[in-house]
Amino acid sequence: MSAPNKSYDPVEVEALKPEEIARRRDEALTAIAAAGDLEALREVKVAHTGDRSPLALANREIGALPPHAKADAGKRVGQARGQVNQALKARQEELEAERDARVLVEEAVDVTLPYDRTPAGARHPITTFSERIEDVFVAMGYEVAEGPEVEAEWFNFDALNFPPDHPAREMQDTFFVRGAKGERDGEGSGVVLRTHTSPVQIRSMIDREPPIYVICPGRTYRTDELDATHTPVFHQVELLAIDEGLTMADLKGTLDHMVRALFGEGMSTRLRPNFFPFTEPSAEMDMLCYVCRGESVGNPDRPCRTCSSEGWIELGGCGMVNPRVLIACGVDPDRYSGFAFGFGIERMLMFRHNVEDMRDMVEGDVRFTRPFGMEI
Ligand code: FA5
Repeated sequence: MSAPNKSYDPVEVEALKPEEIARRRDEALTAIAAAGDLEALREVKVAHTGDRSPLALANREIGALPPHAKADAGKRVGQARGQVNQALKARQEELEAERDARVLVEEAVDVTLPYDRTPAGARHPITTFSERIEDVFVAMGYEVAEGPEVEAEWFNFDALNFPPDHPAREMQDTFFVRGAKGERDGEGSGVVLRTHTSPVQIRSMIDREPPIYVICPGRTYRTDELDATHTPVFHQVELLAIDEGLTMADLKGTLDHMVRALFGEGMSTRLRPNFFPFTEPSAEMDMLCYVCRGESVGNPDRPCRTCSSEGWIELGGCGMVNPRVLIACGVDPDRYSGFAFGFGIERMLMFRHNVEDMRDMVEGDVRFTRPFGMEI
């Protein structure tokens, strides 16, 4: 900054002389007009409006003037800076418009050019089929219920009336998970990967008041080797109905409705005695072979590969909910009864689509999945 101006004449401060201010302004305007692109304009802006630009330095000199001279000088510098800023703004808009027009031309896409088709993904048939099964029951007023895959042993076995150390537990080879605090490893930890979807029955009865109508699809785990008919990770669908006066006839009618809805008119099911600790009586459920409809039985001229000419295909287990299970879940067995069934989705899909090897379903090869992909 200059020393105080003894003569009190602003004209004596070189930087504030009108012609000097006009020169600095014109230099700026020339540089702005010459800036060929936005990057160059940015540099011009710093040089001519920044803190160390000629007009900014001139502005600082105003402080050295006596009060009566400040207004005039301030007006001159202010006007010059205003003109520079206006010119900058106008040039900025011009250059931006030029850039936008250029980008539109350079990045134009010819939508008529041929392109490589990207194959669309496909939903896995296990997902689409589970949803189809859910739909059949939701249409009948059932609610979809879910439970955790890492499950307390109590829900997976004890509440389902599998006594501790009872051989029935070995019907389902179990993955034990390290206890939450890691204190006990493997068997005895109290935590398992659920071996079936039946623990969701227990959770549903504890969470809800009867009447209860739930359908529970989900992933389940067993220490089975992967082979053509087994996989250690598979899917089940569980169904539970609890109400007053439910009988085996309701179970049978529900199963028949399900196979008709999923496999077509004329289908039916049959029950064979079996044992599950959580149902009494219990049964194995078979459905009529949907390929030969039983006509291959005793008919060597018409063998059926789907049911090995037995006429029936095994689906899963079912029965009337054991009163001991109702009591464990706080449901009054004198007032309510119920039925339940559960079956494997992979096995059902194998029959439905003539898949000969379950490994095809789990290996994730898109060539297997794609033909099912359009099913919604
Ligand atoms: C059960 O899991 C019972 N929770 C079913 C049940 C529910 C009975 C409600 C009564 C009332 P099971 O162990 O049989 O039952 O298994 C049912 C089905 O799961 C089998 O029929 C089979 O289709 C399927 N499954 C079992 N293990 C495997 C496996 N390793 N790979 C693929 N599917 C399997």
